[in-house]
Amino acid sequence: MSASTSPSLATDHWRRDTPGCEGVIHLNNAGAALMPKPVIDALTTYVLREAQIGGYEAADEAAMRVRETYELVGRLVGAPDRNIALVENATVAFAQALSAFDFRPGDLIVTTRADYPSNQLMYLSLARRLGVEIVRAEDLPEGGTDPDSVRRLARDPHTRLVALSWVPTNSGLVQDARAVGEVCAQLGVPYLVDACQTVGQMAVDVNDLRCDYLASTARKFLRGPRGIGFLYVSDRMLERGAFPLYVDMRGADWTDPDSFRLADGARRFENWEFAYALVLGLAEAARYALSVGSAGGQRAWTLAAELRQSLERLPGVRVLDRGRERCAIVTIDVREHDAADLKLRLRARGVNTSSSDREDGVLDMDQKSARTVLRFSPHYYNTEDELTTAVSMLEELITRSP
Ligand SMILES: Cc1ncc(COP(=O)(O)O)c(C=O)c1O
Repeated sequence: MSASTSPSLATDHWRRDTPGCEGVIHLNNAGAALMPKPVIDALTTYVLREAQIGGYEAADEAAMRVRETYELVGRLVGAPDRNIALVENATVAFAQALSAFDFRPGDLIVTTRADYPSNQLMYLSLARRLGVEIVRAEDLPEGGTDPDSVRRLARDPHTRLVALSWVPTNSGLVQDARAVGEVCAQLGVPYLVDACQTVGQMAVDVNDLRCDYLASTARKFLRGPRGIGFLYVSDRMLERGAFPLYVDMRGADWTDPDSFRLADGARRFENWEFAYALVLGLAEAARYALSVGSAGGQRAWTLAAELRQSLERLPGVRVLDRGRERCAIVTIDVREHDAADLKLRLRARGVNTSSSDREDGVLDMDQKSARTVLRFSPHYYNTEDELTTAVSMLEELITRSP
């Protein structure tokens, strides 16, 4: 690292907290970020405790810290702890929320062209199984969903839900989730937000968003462990008696042979079996993100903007990012190169990125005439020098061989 580009004190501090920084240039934070020490310590200490005293006993011992996890996650998204459910990942959170609706044939789900592929598959499954109709709002010319198009579609009295991926998995796009929330509030239509790529790189406030459900995961920009996520559920939905289709004995009590009573709060969206080590890891990730504050996301966006500029100067590289605001996800197409192959060759040189192909976003990929895309997702602990190294390695790969 040259003296002229030495990272700021804050970056230095974040890097010291991140053991993984020593071994790799990690530009795959939209895949799974490098965990900071407090997260790693919480995970490993707890697993050892389970081994020493037993899994159920360790959970009892950690009960207060587990309770605190809800508070910390709630603070991250501007919600009280009772509105947070801890689940396995963002997909499960999203599915739990979807399953709370009693969809009937002819009901409408209004969504976007950039929603996450697994979410699109769930909509299509609802269409195939229950005859729900899926309609996708138009994009603005600069990219990103047009809230007025959402309004026109959601006005249909058959609309049961508006669903949106705030930051889609590729394209650097940041959807105007707030404007869509306003449309939903005005029309009185429930609003489900996938904030999987948002939490940890942008401020999230469910009140400002006016959403009813918000699904997210721990391992991405939030820097928590793999295998855990969460769901925010609004009071409006809880008071309406919403609960997931396959509620289990954590979400409800079996009070009589033919009846059950729902748990208070969003806990009714959880499953009984918990990976407690991951719960405590999530707590530390949330605490860490709260301490980093908005400076982290701002730095990640600045690094991504620099990266975009450097990448688009490379021969055969097309930056595919769209939208008014562009986040810490940089997506490129490299002419005559397969992105998965480039990813592996970069990885062999110590640079982590990720790749996607058409099935990861058919609408987006077809519109951009891209077959495979390479994704770089820096975070605040990355340095400018790391970006320079990654770009020159890519340049070497694409100029040397076809
Ligand atoms: C926008 C978006 N939503 C949802 C998901 C799914 O998250 P998980 O794998 O935690 O279920 C991803 C994963 O990449 C994503 O990018």
